[in-house]
Amino acid sequence: MAAVTEDNITNEVCARYAGAANPRMVTLMTGLVRHLHDYAREVQLTRDEWLTALDFLIRCGEMSDDKRNEMMLLSDVMGLSMLTVMIDQKVPHGATPNTVEGPFFIEGSPELPPGGDMRFGAPGKLCFMTGRVTDMEGRPIAGALIDAWQADQNGLYECQVGADDAYLRGKFHTDADGRYCVTTVEPCHYSIPIDGPVGELVAATGISHERPAHIHATVRAPGHQTLITHIFRGGADYIDSDAVYGVRPELIIFFEDHEPGPTPAGTIATEPFSTVTFDVVLAPAVERRLAAE
Ligand code: BEZ
Ligand code: FE
Repeated sequence: MAAVTEDNITNEVCARYAGAANPRMVTLMTGLVRHLHDYAREVQLTRDEWLTALDFLIRCGEMSDDKRNEMMLLSDVMGLSMLTVMIDQKVPHGATPNTVEGPFFIEGSPELPPGGDMRFGAPGKLCFMTGRVTDMEGRPIAGALIDAWQADQNGLYECQVGADDAYLRGKFHTDADGRYCVTTVEPCHYSIPIDGPVGELVAATGISHERPAHIHATVRAPGHQTLITHIFRGGADYIDSDAVYGVRPELIIFFEDHEPGPTPAGTIATEPFSTVTFDVVLAPAVERRLAAE
């Protein structure tokens, strides 16, 4: 091997990774090495800065568990999660776009009937999210599964309020005409968790740590791409500065206020409420690229 220099070390390292059996692994590792080396040369990385970065990553890992993923949060605030969504979860023009899933999705939400109430005691203004799930040709998709979750009026998710049972999450199915209805509370804006290393990054850089008001949903139907998305409340605070870059114009929807009276769930509300219509267009299923093994 020739003596390594600042200029040739990148090619030397890439040559070793180029021997991996899986060609996708070669692409992933040589690309990563090239960009990291170029970064170090460009910013003239010092030893202290490099050690600080390693310590930061160690602490992000140490803070992560099955309820809190600080590494994912780091990826989110660097825009990498959203960039990956835009690269790998593209849908054809006219289909509802994907956005970041975030760390608060919980598997196994209760199955609720049409119009079912997923508040489970959560505080907030009564709200109904209704809509229709169709394919790209506008045909209704019956039996599509909508798994919805959100924060309460204080911006807190189930794991943050310490609820023992389901809190602001539920599964709903579309009817024969592709329609669904969810009883919930109006979402409000909230701060991403800033009590860990990512919070230090927020403090050191002044980047936004607020998310505009939103309701999350995944939508699944056989023969269609699974959609992982949210709707954002039109006119909400922070809509132009989302901490995780998740806002897409097609997902901004205005809510309507109503006086007490009949609701879309077929109930009679004794309090003012709001409604929001979220129509979903699912893209047809595609074959997925095989991951590096
Ligand atoms: C969320 O919307 O739940 C979320 C997404 C990314 C980071 C933190 C929270
Ligand atoms: Fe959220």
